[in-house]
Amino acid sequence: MSMMEWNKVFAAVLLAGIVFMSTMILGEKMVTPKPLAQNVVRVEGAAQATETAAAAPAAEAALEPVGPLLASADVAAGQVVARRCTSCHTFEKGGANRVGPNLWDIIGSDHAHAPGFAYSPVIAGMKGNPWDYEELNKFIANPRAYAPGTKMVFAGISRVQERANLIAWMRTLADTPKPLP
Ligand code: HEC
Repeated sequence: MSMMEWNKVFAAVLLAGIVFMSTMILGEKMVTPKPLAQNVVRVEGAAQATETAAAAPAAEAALEPVGPLLASADVAAGQVVARRCTSCHTFEKGGANRVGPNLWDIIGSDHAHAPGFAYSPVIAGMKGNPWDYEELNKFIANPRAYAPGTKMVFAGISRVQERANLIAWMRTLADTPKPLP
């Protein structure tokens, strides 16, 4: 073979290489791999492990219940805490609805209990479900987390003892206070 012929062979090999390389690069550019949101094959044990791992921090972040604190709660201190509510709520029997509904005898009453009060859809949607101690606890701790979209514009009371005192005082505001949990 002449020199000319060999050059053609080299050129052909080189060209093949370039074509091969650029196809690879192009191919990588055109196809963007998306990582899977979850394993396609769910392995029983493995799935359980991730679920418990995810549930653990949620359980830690769960709100402290007021139930165990109610019997020894400071009712008088609770009445003082309630001053944060009285700009919007009345607590006495037959009291008017203001920005918020009257709260006489609220424990054991229905959600959206006050007739004629224009509740938000989220609270109105909870009708049929009574306010027990822990429901009140959650609502008062963080109204917007408990009922996203609630009309009650109140930041919440973060200290569990204050919530317990307040709820213990609210419990007394009834003809027949509900039994302690
Ligand atoms: C800025 C005004 C405001 C303050 C302060 C406020 N609330 Fe409310 N509250 C409302 C409004 C408005 C609603 C109606 C919520 C809705 O419809 O989403 C409401 C609803 C409630 C309900 C539900 C009543 C029902 O019939 O279902 C409870 C219980 C309640 N508030 C307790 C409290 C307590 C306890 C405090 C004080 C720690 C407090 N609120 C402070 C405005 C307020």
